[in-house]
Amino acid sequence: MLEPLHIVILAAGKGTRMRSQLPKVMHPLANQPLIAHVRRTAEALNPASLITVAAEDAPNVVAAMAPYPCVIQRERLGTGHALQTALQQHAFASGWVVVVYGDTPLLQAGTIRRMCATFTEHPNTGVVALGFHTDNPHGYGRLLVQGGMLQAIVEEKEATPLQRAITLCNAGIMAFRTDLLPALLARLDNNNSKQEYYLTDTVAHARHLGVDARMVEVDAGQVLGINTRAELATVEALLQQRLRQTHLEAGVTLVAPETVFFSADTVIEADVVVEPFVVIGTGVRIASGSHIKAYSHLEGCSIGSNCVVGPYARLRPDTVLADDVRIGNFVELKKTTMGQGSKANHVSYMGDSRVGQDCNNGAGTIN
Ligand code: UD1
Ligand code: MG
Repeated sequence: MLEPLHIVILAAGKGTRMRSQLPKVMHPLANQPLIAHVRRTAEALNPASLITVAAEDAPNVVAAMAPYPCVIQRERLGTGHALQTALQQHAFASGWVVVVYGDTPLLQAGTIRRMCATFTEHPNTGVVALGFHTDNPHGYGRLLVQGGMLQAIVEEKEATPLQRAITLCNAGIMAFRTDLLPALLARLDNNNSKQEYYLTDTVAHARHLGVDARMVEVDAGQVLGINTRAELATVEALLQQRLRQTHLEAGVTLVAPETVFFSADTVIEADVVVEPFVVIGTGVRIASGSHIKAYSHLEGCSIGSNCVVGPYARLRPDTVLADDVRIGNFVELKKTTMGQGSKANHVSYMGDSRVGQDCNNGAGTIN
């Protein structure tokens, strides 16, 4: 992409239905906050600016996005108002502004690239919305498309019965030509049933200004939003499938993929074998040729080449295994370094320890 890309993440929603003290976008998915997934996707696009609209009482959201700036939306007056709030504090010089949601973590960078490509392919385009088909459109804005052009987005509450029958829905992700955005946002009002400033009304306003709006379609699975714990679990399952697929394609053997759980930041080299029922927490690296046996739990550890870990091993944070190390059943390590060729094969605990090369820790050892 030649034009500068500005990304705004909307994350000021209350998330009431999560029934949680934690802001919705801070709930973990593959052991990282929801918003960290959106951040990673945004960063993959190398944006000229990345701004998050956060609620007033969400300091952890601000921390999760640092060093990128957050804009605080004190009153939650709608998606259009959220973008207005961002624009009041950040002037975008040129290019495109893409609005994404902090609670839609499966969105992929390629989809945003496709949206932005529309501006180049069809030069009179000012707004691009992301649409998807679903059998259950309840709650979504509907896309009114005619002759390949997006005419309007109608929120469900404002829709006529005929419009409600439309199954092409608005995912919420929208892209704008930067120079048009101030004029489009200035035209928004809250004369609707929710008394909110709807970002989706920008489509109709663009057309009144003689500018085209278009739609890019995406698979519904990529734009699943999270509003409840049940949806969080559904998205977790989808993300785990995606992570398993990625590791398999990278040359990792998963004997029973559906039983292995990864973190979003797990790094595994080719020719590692992972047996069934292994759980991998954050900050784990496994070098090539290692074999992780069944029912092991790994977290914050680095495993060298050609190690054998488990069955039933527990590696806790700051554990480092050099190459050719063997850790057997019911062995727990914390903040421990094991030198090359060392073993702890049965029932033992080592914490805050340094073990040299070729040592053998016998059964029942506690360090
Ligand atoms: C929105 C879209 C709808 C679309 C749906 C997809 C509008 C008017 N409607 O509806 O067409 O089908 O998303 O899920 O845009 N937010 C703020 N500040 C606000 C309001 C919202 O930051 O004042 C954030 C929320 O945190 C959330 C996102 O914007 O990440 C969407 O808000 P939400 O209230 O869920 O919009 P919907 O009513 O679902
Ligand atoms: Mg929503």
